Amino acid sequence: MVRDINSLVDGQPVGGGARIEIRNPADLSDHVANVTLAGPDVFASAARAASRAQAEWARVPAPVRGVAIHDLGLILANNKDVLARLITREIGKPYRESLGEVQEAIDTCIFFASEGRRLYGQTVPSEMPDKQLFTFRKPVGTMAVITAGNFPVAVPSWYVVPALVAGNAVVWKPAEYTPAIAHAFTRLVHAAGIPTTVFQMVLTDGRDTSVGLALALEDGHLQKVGFTGSSEVGRSIAELCGRHLVHPTLELGGKNPLVVMPDADLDLAVEGALFSGFGTAGQRCTSLGVAIVHESIHDDFLDRFSKAVGEASIGDPMQDVLYGPMLSERFATGFERWLEHIEPHHTASGSSAMGRITSDSPRDGFVGDATAGIFEHPTVVAGVTRDDALYKNETFGPIVPVASFATFDDAMALANDHGYGLSSSIYTTNPRHAFDFRERITAGMVSVNNSTSGAEAHLPFGGNGKSGNGARQSGIWMLEQVTRWQSLNWDYSGRLQKAQMDVKEIEADRGFRLDD
Ligand code: UN1
Repeated sequence: MVRDINSLVDGQPVGGGARIEIRNPADLSDHVANVTLAGPDVFASAARAASRAQAEWARVPAPVRGVAIHDLGLILANNKDVLARLITREIGKPYRESLGEVQEAIDTCIFFASEGRRLYGQTVPSEMPDKQLFTFRKPVGTMAVITAGNFPVAVPSWYVVPALVAGNAVVWKPAEYTPAIAHAFTRLVHAAGIPTTVFQMVLTDGRDTSVGLALALEDGHLQKVGFTGSSEVGRSIAELCGRHLVHPTLELGGKNPLVVMPDADLDLAVEGALFSGFGTAGQRCTSLGVAIVHESIHDDFLDRFSKAVGEASIGDPMQDVLYGPMLSERFATGFERWLEHIEPHHTASGSSAMGRITSDSPRDGFVGDATAGIFEHPTVVAGVTRDDALYKNETFGPIVPVASFATFDDAMALANDHGYGLSSSIYTTNPRHAFDFRERITAGMVSVNNSTSGAEAHLPFGGNGKSGNGARQSGIWMLEQVTRWQSLNWDYSGRLQKAQMDVKEIEADRGFRLDD
């Protein structure tokens, strides 16, 4: 079935812009959708409409909003297979991972449904009698959520679910290459009873999104922006938000290190590096960015890792494969440019060839028909140093640079010096190494003897440096992003009691000393 997809403003289809054809990246003969993009004016008018609807949504009691989120979780669970199949069809994510992705959205609903019954404030003691102090969480207002398409359901839900439960309205701009999933997800949100005015979905391209965002901020219709995508776009969104004193939540790129200590369980490290580096064809922000291996075990690790990569099954994402196609042609060409940075001092391994898998450049053991879609060979690049482009940049594809180190200080320098700070991992059997690594790594997320990817839905998710501005998603930490604290003081003494000045003091003899 070919779907015709438009933006949904107040629940109504709106187009007006360029038309894009979406094809299954695992089988380009499978025409998934036609999308009609919208222009910046549509983005701005959706923000205006959401902003008008927000106050009424905020007046719905929080526990009732929580029930809507609970229903969204149930509806997602009832549609899990269909949605997961659509994810696999539209972006080629292996079906098992697609099911996991929908589960991550369900978990987010389960977590936040009860937040509607908590959203706790505090009672705070006053320094004066007959006076009470309180704190309340208030929704920020209307939030623009701009997300990438590598996690087209899970990542949007990290923003949308807590924003809605806290009483915000949302304008969601999904990736243009996942319109069918975005449309389906939006219909599920509306099916849960969230008003169509409160949750708007706009499909604009990158340029029109920034123009629309600028218009909506100028008009005062947005109080919050959430963005998941590249560090470069994140920077320009932060600049724009800064001019309007709007605080953005930014989840940007990563160059996630995986350090293998000489005392590591090597089989476990190889398994972890394989999944971290090549799961989702390396197209997660949490994908392994550089393996940093102690010189004493480097050759052994490399042999085992290259062998595991060479034997990994790649291909049809509906079958049991490590990874399927690239998300779209754009991601394939972007990735292929990084292969040009493999230099003479590097040694490449992991497949029968490099770059696009074709009939002239086949992959041994490929599952299905490689020529039908956009598939890339996996590549392991040994001999990488801190001066290499492959070390300094996020490559977003199935490539794992490997560097070796002599001292723990060298390992830490390699783990941090690229300036990203999203996820990280260390393989060791020595608790001292694990805790030293935890202390010295700049990343927001640390794994010990585990993959750099695969965060759970209720731990803080986010990064530092080039990976973000310190905001955290997931779990209770996200509430800080979608609410603002309001304090209330209530004096019922019938007098004007001045803080700091009218405070009763208890006399103390501060010079008092015990006899020796
Ligand atoms: C992302 O790539 O933007 O931790 C999110 C993980 C997933 C989420 C990744 N749960 O790999």
